[in-house]
Amino acid sequence: MFRKNVWPSIVSHLWHVFVFFVLLMIFLLLAFMFQDHPMFHPLPQSIFEQVNYTHLAINETLYPVESNILRLFPEIMQSILLRVDSDYVLETDPWITYKSDEHDTDWESWVDQDGLEAQDSQLRYACKYQPLPFPILHHVVSSAVGVENNGSAFDRLPAVDKPFLILPFISNTTLKSDDTICVRVVVSQPAPDPSNPFQYLYRPNDYQNSRLVSPWWDTMMVTMQHNQTNATTTLSMQPWSGHMVLRKDRMARLLGGQAPGWYKDMEETIAERDLIHVYEADAKLKDIGEYHIQGLLEYQAGKWNFELGPVNPYEPQLLPVYPLGAEDIRVVKPGTEEEENEKVKKEERSVEQAQKDILDAHLALPLCHRADNLGRWLPVPLGYNTTLLAGIDHHNKVWAPYNCRYRKLSYDQFNRCLARRYPNGVDLYGDSNTRRSLKAMLSHGKWCDTQPGALSPNHRILNLEGARSWKSAGDDGQRRSCYCEDYTEPSWNNEWLNPHIRLNDLFFENTREESKALGRNTEWDNRTVVLDKVRLRSYKWDGLTYLNNPGWDTAFVPLFGDPSIRPDIVVFSLGNWDAAFLTLADFNRDLTRLIELIRLAYQQVGHPKIIYRTPQYFCCRTDSSPRERRVSGGRIQSFDHLARTRFASELKAEIWDTLAMGEARTWDEKIESVECPSNHVPSDIVEQENQVLMNSLCNSF
Ligand SMILES: *[C@@H]1O[C@H](CO)[C@@H](O)[C@H](O)[C@H]1NC(C)=O
Ligand SMILES: *[C@@H]1O[C@H](CO)[C@@H](O)[C@H](O)[C@H]1NC(C)=O
Ligand SMILES: *[C@@H]1O[C@H](CO)[C@@H](O)[C@H](O)[C@H]1NC(C)=O
Ligand SMILES: *[C@@H]1O[C@H](CO)[C@@H](O)[C@H](O)[C@H]1NC(C)=O
Ligand SMILES: *[C@@H]1O[C@H](CO)[C@@H](O)[C@H](O)[C@H]1NC(C)=O
Ligand SMILES: *[C@@H]1O[C@H](CO)[C@@H](O)[C@H](O)[C@H]1NC(C)=O
Ligand SMILES: *[C@@H]1O[C@H](CO)[C@@H](O)[C@H](O)[C@H]1NC(C)=O
Ligand SMILES: *[C@@H]1O[C@H](CO)[C@@H](O)[C@H](O)[C@H]1NC(C)=O
Repeated sequence: MFRKNVWPSIVSHLWHVFVFFVLLMIFLLLAFMFQDHPMFHPLPQSIFEQVNYTHLAINETLYPVESNILRLFPEIMQSILLRVDSDYVLETDPWITYKSDEHDTDWESWVDQDGLEAQDSQLRYACKYQPLPFPILHHVVSSAVGVENNGSAFDRLPAVDKPFLILPFISNTTLKSDDTICVRVVVSQPAPDPSNPFQYLYRPNDYQNSRLVSPWWDTMMVTMQHNQTNATTTLSMQPWSGHMVLRKDRMARLLGGQAPGWYKDMEETIAERDLIHVYEADAKLKDIGEYHIQGLLEYQAGKWNFELGPVNPYEPQLLPVYPLGAEDIRVVKPGTEEEENEKVKKEERSVEQAQKDILDAHLALPLCHRADNLGRWLPVPLGYNTTLLAGIDHHNKVWAPYNCRYRKLSYDQFNRCLARRYPNGVDLYGDSNTRRSLKAMLSHGKWCDTQPGALSPNHRILNLEGARSWKSAGDDGQRRSCYCEDYTEPSWNNEWLNPHIRLNDLFFENTREESKALGRNTEWDNRTVVLDKVRLRSYKWDGLTYLNNPGWDTAFVPLFGDPSIRPDIVVFSLGNWDAAFLTLADFNRDLTRLIELIRLAYQQVGHPKIIYRTPQYFCCRTDSSPRERRVSGGRIQSFDHLARTRFASELKAEIWDTLAMGEARTWDEKIESVECPSNHVPSDIVEQENQVLMNSLCNSF
């Protein structure tokens, strides 16, 4: 009975379902066809669009390199075809005429390509719209696929037999503020180094190599310096994405596609070491004025990676810049007429005026809410009103993000903000760099607040009152503590924060007078009145290294014993010790364990803000102190990339990016660190690092 009645109705419903399903499929198909899929827009807009290229075969016998480019990078090859005079395209061999008469070695005729036209004129020189210049692509593909041409049309292409930096425009090109430009470094095949018997030990770490991100085989420092302010941007040069195309192609062809994974990886590493490598970065020029671009090649052939072989000296090599003369760039205000720019040029703003204008513009930006904004260090002109600045360092500079600003928060204000917004306090796991941060916080900014260069000689002071009463001992030891190493600082009272023990249980707090001075109407106040006091649990570790005794993971043991107290903020500082004393693989394994422990100890009980503090920037030297830290800029970059990626993706952590602040220093400022083997920053920069964190925690939306 039941069955009899129900089935026909289900069947009639099935019919409806079927019609609905068919309509859905049609809809999805249409949606797929009309989405912005490259398949349906194979050629960019161009006057040559009407030319039919599909018949254009490249004679593979004569030109295997170009036929491989057409196979592997069809879009780039098409954009190159667009540059060939359409009259020749129809001839049997267009290549004979292509560029062969105007070949040049200063690369002028190979840049500023207009084949792929950007909709947005500010992106005209971005990497996306400026494919790798053809001769470079030719040499890269030739070396990667292992073929050479047999015809003569390309004999006169410029060679790629030494490393160089290449810009996408010729000299005297005027750019507009906020334009994006593609900066590329081409690293030719490394010369064998018979004096180094360990040369083949070095290679990039798997974590970055498999993702094709920096640090890869070569490390370099490419900077853009603004002439009027010396503001310096160090570009994050990343391996050209085409290397992944070439890698996949080679691996797919290995043993006719039958090779096992480990064998492919090994063969690929062997092959990639000896190829031409290309790195690129899209750089945005923000401030108007003149810029100077410079590139230093630091290490080749993986020699930055001291976990695999002996430490190699830091001997950077200055890269020639092509096209000749393009390294000096002029940036003007967008929308201004040519005459007006000429007028401005003639008047030649004074350096002070230019600096003031840039700082004024910066201070008009909204407040920052993150601790990882990219920025630059701006000089503070003489007599400038410093009320709005977050701090000034001993070079008279302030850290200035491009898109927002930091303000100066007093430590009294910070403690009020903590007590209201994060009443359950702070847990912090870190090394000597966080100790220096805490010294500034606990002393309410008194610690080393006299600029380290200008200490007044004084007799030794035994500081007995609270950390706020910190006074300089005024001698050379004190100077060193403020500038560099403060482990045994004479004027620091260990009751305030003991550097010799693992766990310090302390408070961020204001005195009654300090609270009173702040009043009850700060931006963090509400009707609830509580003391300006939160707990701070500071655990000192040497990263995740074996140097921790007891092991670093014992830091979490007390938390499992007492589930009642959970902080609102947890900060983890990593990378400085790890990059010096661990392999990346061991660090990765320990990170897995750390992340697991963080989840158990903190994320199952509450929802504290998790903050990852980056390692300090390292450059321009190797460690020759008795510690023999096996650290290099590439090693720090490699460890930071791993930890940052995992903290952000697995713990939704926020990033306290002190690395970016060091990276944006000028060369002269960077090499100041050579004097400080522990790679600590001076107290005045500690202060600005703190402001970055405090602003990100306390600024309201
Ligand atoms: C382009 O040329 C090829 C080969 O000659 C031909 O098969 C194709 O139909 C042509 N396409 C157009 C759009 O003319
Ligand atoms: C390629 O060039 C060779 C030598 O010039 C010639 O013999 C051959 O026919 C050409 N192949 C095609 C497909 O045009
Ligand atoms: C180049 O072509 C010539 C004939 O066209 C042939 O004899 C020679 O073997 C070829 N060389 C290579 C490397 O293919
Ligand atoms: C760029 O300008 C300078 C000075 O005005 C001039 O000497 C030089 O020839 C120019 N270079 C190019 C490539 O136009
Ligand atoms: C900018 O400074 C560099 C040196 O740092 C100098 O070589 C270059 O000529 C300057 N450019 C301009 C346009 O003043
Ligand atoms: C930029 O740095 C150079 C030396 O590196 C110095 O001579 C010059 O005064 C600095 N300019 C500014 C504006 O700070
Ligand atoms: C500096 O700026 C602050 C805030 O804009 C203002 O209150 C103060 O009066 C200024 N000081 C001077 C000396 O102009
Ligand atoms: C005021 O802040 C405290 C501490 O953050 C919080 O517990 C309380 O709920 C807040 N009260 C109001 C009225 O927002």
